[in-house]
Amino acid sequence: MCGIIGYIGKKQAMPILMDGLRKESYRGYDSSGIVVFDAQNNATCLKAVGKLENLENKIQGQELKGEIGIGHVRWATHGEVTETNAHPHTGCQENIFVVHNGIIENYREIREKLIEKGHKFVSETDTEVVAHLVEHFFDGNLEDAVRKALKLVKGAYALAVVAKEDPNKIVVAKLSSPLIIGIGKDEYLVASDQNAIAPYAKKIITLEDNEVVTITPDDLCIIKEREPEDLEIETGKTEKGKYPHFMLKEIMEQADSIEMPLKGRVRFDQGLAKLGGLDQVSDKLKDIERINIVACGTAYLAGLTAEYMLEEYAGIPCEVDFGSEFRYRKPILNKKTVVLAISQSGETADTLAGIKEAKEKGVMTLGIVNAVGSTIARETDAGIYNHAGPEIGVASTKAFTSQLTVLALLALFLGRQRQMSLITGQNIARELLNIPALIRELLKSEAKIKELAEKYKNYKNFFFIGRKYNFPIACEGALKLKEISYIHAEGYSGGEMKHGPIALIDESFPTIALCPSDSVYEKMVSNIEEIKARKGPVIAIATEGNEKIKELVDDVIYIPKTLEMLTPILSVIPLQLFAYYTGVLNKCDVDKPRNLAKSVTVE
Ligand code: AGP
Ligand code: GLU
Repeated sequence: MCGIIGYIGKKQAMPILMDGLRKESYRGYDSSGIVVFDAQNNATCLKAVGKLENLENKIQGQELKGEIGIGHVRWATHGEVTETNAHPHTGCQENIFVVHNGIIENYREIREKLIEKGHKFVSETDTEVVAHLVEHFFDGNLEDAVRKALKLVKGAYALAVVAKEDPNKIVVAKLSSPLIIGIGKDEYLVASDQNAIAPYAKKIITLEDNEVVTITPDDLCIIKEREPEDLEIETGKTEKGKYPHFMLKEIMEQADSIEMPLKGRVRFDQGLAKLGGLDQVSDKLKDIERINIVACGTAYLAGLTAEYMLEEYAGIPCEVDFGSEFRYRKPILNKKTVVLAISQSGETADTLAGIKEAKEKGVMTLGIVNAVGSTIARETDAGIYNHAGPEIGVASTKAFTSQLTVLALLALFLGRQRQMSLITGQNIARELLNIPALIRELLKSEAKIKELAEKYKNYKNFFFIGRKYNFPIACEGALKLKEISYIHAEGYSGGEMKHGPIALIDESFPTIALCPSDSVYEKMVSNIEEIKARKGPVIAIATEGNEKIKELVDDVIYIPKTLEMLTPILSVIPLQLFAYYTGVLNKCDVDKPRNLAKSVTVE
């Protein structure tokens, strides 16, 4: 995905655009660019490859005066990471300038037709066709040209378009990718993410699909009149504070970010979870007989963990799908099914597509989302916000543990609607309320984990293994290590090792084994012994007080004791820290890992 920003008003545009791009740089950071129009309507367009700082350095020596402009941080989908492929894109006459989030699926066909008409393309991107198409239709009125162009475009887009020859306006359009208009005092902003708007606007309009909007310094003209909504912004700070990286800050603040989703949602005396976001569907939920969870990446692994929770504690059959798979297989959905989307950003295209598929089939949809007001939060029938605060590090950490917390609350909620006893409900409630204190205790082992990262940082391959509730956590640990330190890692069920993967084990291939003292501990010990028999180094994640495990493995990281169903919230934290320190020691950019973006709003 990428980040779009636009400003039109009475202030100098450039500083506002750059501030917005800084806030959106987590959405894409392989290149960036802005264009600003001065009072004489001269356009200055600057682009840079790499981090936003490179564009800032370019701007240093330039006069970018003007009260209207658009900008973009890119995560490439079509065309390499080059300055030419960075946005804004323009047509042949450098009249039209376009920034785009999404994919123009029929761009090749359009490009060929425009080349036949004499257009010359300079980039390899899909986006450039929009600039030339608008130019093709442009006869002095920008919004008419944009509307005509978009009738020919297939795919997903959030667009902001400006034109030298139709000055003092920004035309924006949206289909599938998010776009928000911020309404300030005598000024308007356009952005992909409302955090970029927050300092300047108190009212926002969230564009809906197929809307084309014309914004001038005094007016806002949209196809459908809709009342502006109040801007809801999570209060969480988006600064690193005392930490060197957002990722470490977000790991170390997980006791707080778990307290947030628990606040006001646990009724210990009745052993209940109070989930206000489900109030309107609470009665319907009593009758559901199956839950299909749809998510991607780390959120998918939260869903996989929830499968164990919901089946064991709510007695509801549960299936978990990658968003990208769910929409193309033929899931059996009926009125007794609920489709539950889990998404930190609430903008992941594959997950959103799953929700749309479910809605077309008339199935109830729920969302567990962190980003307030995001597309998935608005598209689902009901849901539960994580309230973990903005997560800026590309690797999901605090959002993941808050997803697990909310899913445990959901299991408690649904279980108590069914056969779960008061005592069991109270046990879960009590242990949930105790989790933040256990996390604070666990984080004291940060230095020990950093030492382990130092010891193991040169290995080229890792297995992460776990069983039952900790099998998805083993997969999450492997994903974290891969995406943060670029080291190959595989998550596996402990029981599966003997069915092939153990062939890889030797002294060069360490395994991190999640073996808390739970219902499958003995089985995990057997798996560890099978690995040790082949000289594989093993780091165990074990429950405090288990001294015996030290005789079996090379290193141990201890986690506090809690309910088996809640162990994942604790066992993932050492894996997050291990990935973080391994990445730092290997000089990786842990907040903005190569090739990744915080939320993938393209298929
Ligand atoms: C998480 O560490 C990854 N960066 C990625 O897998 C992420 O979990 C996935 O893209 C889903 O994002 P979402 O939660 O915003 O939908
Ligand atoms: N498809 C466009 C490109 O590759 C936009 C990608 C994005 O949304 O970041 O430049």
